[in-house]
Amino acid sequence: MKTNNQQPTTNNQRVPAGHTLWLGIETSCDETSAAVVQSGSEVLSNIIASQVDIHRRFGGVVPEIASRQHLELVNGVVAEALQAAGTELGDLTGIAVTNGPGLVGALVVGIATAKAMAFAASLPLLGINHMAGHIYANFLQSPQPEFPFVCLVVSGGHTDIVYMPEHLSFELLGRTRDDAAGEVFDKTARAMGLGYPGGPVIDRLAAEGNPAAVDFPRARLEEGSFDFSFSGLKTAVLRYFQSNPDVPPEDTAASFQRAVVDVLAERAFRACDDKGVERLVLAGGVAVNSELRRRFAAEAEQRGIELHIPAPILCTDNAAMIASVAHFRYLRGDSDPLTLDADANLPL
Ligand code: KG4
Ligand code: ZN
Repeated sequence: MKTNNQQPTTNNQRVPAGHTLWLGIETSCDETSAAVVQSGSEVLSNIIASQVDIHRRFGGVVPEIASRQHLELVNGVVAEALQAAGTELGDLTGIAVTNGPGLVGALVVGIATAKAMAFAASLPLLGINHMAGHIYANFLQSPQPEFPFVCLVVSGGHTDIVYMPEHLSFELLGRTRDDAAGEVFDKTARAMGLGYPGGPVIDRLAAEGNPAAVDFPRARLEEGSFDFSFSGLKTAVLRYFQSNPDVPPEDTAASFQRAVVDVLAERAFRACDDKGVERLVLAGGVAVNSELRRRFAAEAEQRGIELHIPAPILCTDNAAMIASVAHFRYLRGDSDPLTLDADANLPL
């Protein structure tokens, strides 16, 4: 998959422009992915083997099964990524691998693979933060966002508002105090008997429903806070669903989705105001959501904010975003030792 031929952004003095070719490996959850990315921006290949069909029957990701699947798939996925990019190991600048946050048993499969390849081919190794990867998916598209910007990262495990004044500088403004946005989609779908993963199912169902049918609660925290809380909404939807069996599930799904998007939009645009920035960047699997994309686009236009959202395939877990971060870290002079380890709770 090719996106663009743009050179990396040069609006940051600490990261000079330069040509690189990174292999990225991503195994933090239930996607086994490998990608080759040129200069942090041009995707030469991005192979993603999803395990979703295996985990679906359990209603969620089973960590032990995920690790075993990664073990079975990773070598083939890496070989396919190199071949699709027309690249050999010797052409690479280095090997980048997600080292957290994520499932430890899943992370170590990618890390062991990356270490073995880096050692065998005498290549630099970089351990990449998965959440930084989600944000850097925006640098795989044209135009790339310029700094500073506010980023809303919405995934299955995280809901963060991050301020980035320059490359690789992350200031956490707010985060969820309980469930992540993707988690609340998944748990709500499960409670409604809609299957797994919940985000895509609710998105599809909600398209047929009335988002104004039910006025679900939007959690208000202390004045000025950029934190989130979704557990009250989750409970309210569950209670409503159980006690109103005749209400079309489409209406419940659409009203729930509207409540989540309302809260995400309120925090994200307020953070832009607070920081005085006119650029908002979205990242993570929940940024695939069609209501969210529509709503953010409309509100950004109305407020005169420049909005960046990765293509859906780059919002969900993939290795191209990991290789992109590696480019910018490498040009900054970073490297990691072969003792690199997994950290399930690696902070941004
Ligand atoms: O970023 P991601 O692929 O993996 C993590 O790092 O967690 O995000 C996965 C999450 C899941 O919770 C999934 O339900 C959610 O993203 N998701 C969506 C949609 N597609 C995926 N949520 C809402 N609407 C969607 N269309
Ligand atoms: Zn992710």
